[in-house]
Amino acid sequence: MRIIKTKNYEEMSKRAADLIASVILLKPNCVLGLATGSSPIGTYQNLVKKYQAGELDFSEVRSVNLDEYKGLAKENEQSYYYFMHDNLFSKVNIKMENTHLPDGMEPDSEKACKEYDEVIASMNGVDMQLLGLGHDGHIGFNEPNKEFDKTTHCVNLTEMTIEANKRFFKSINDVPKQAYTMGVGTIMAAKMVIMLVSGKDKAKILKDAFFGPVTPEVPASILQFHPNFILVADEDALSLVK
Ligand code: GLP
Repeated sequence: MRIIKTKNYEEMSKRAADLIASVILLKPNCVLGLATGSSPIGTYQNLVKKYQAGELDFSEVRSVNLDEYKGLAKENEQSYYYFMHDNLFSKVNIKMENTHLPDGMEPDSEKACKEYDEVIASMNGVDMQLLGLGHDGHIGFNEPNKEFDKTTHCVNLTEMTIEANKRFFKSINDVPKQAYTMGVGTIMAAKMVIMLVSGKDKAKILKDAFFGPVTPEVPASILQFHPNFILVADEDALSLVK
């Protein structure tokens, strides 16, 4: 595990964008595993800037996203499809047919998950997986559990996650109770994993995840075993780590 400590969110976003840009420069048709949430927004802004400056070309880049709410249509502003479109896809020259998210509108969970695993398998490996960190240690929507889920599956979101994500919705009742998420096994199979963590409110879970025992009760902790894991975190998030 490599830790890049930054002053604040802005510097974290710049450093992460530089790392992702290097992946694209080295392999123009790379597969990027992408994430949503507030943590990667600044990173996407920096990638867009690099694209606008003519430093990056997304025309051959392919992407698979971590997760999607079950029951939200693409047009719904809270869907992760909408988020990705709004924050990155519509602002760079990535081909929409090369971007992939689980189908939140497929009511048959087994079918949705199987189809998404087939999409991921057809990519022949994710070159870089970007992650945020949930307050309960979740990655994607892999919530604390008795075991690590390997492949794409449907999850019941925990109270803590629903509470944390309600800020994006009109009311807590509008937050979907379920989501489709890539499994921990798929995340661990990525050639490189970059996690972004910012803010004092993440300091305790960051310490538990990367300086405590590896356990499915803290899903992110398994990244301690990843051979090419880079944690890009700001001073506040690292404030409990000696
Ligand atoms: C959501 C997403 C995760 C994300 C996490 C943290 O639940 N499914 O992929 O990493 O929240 O979000 P934030 O970056 O907004 O703290």
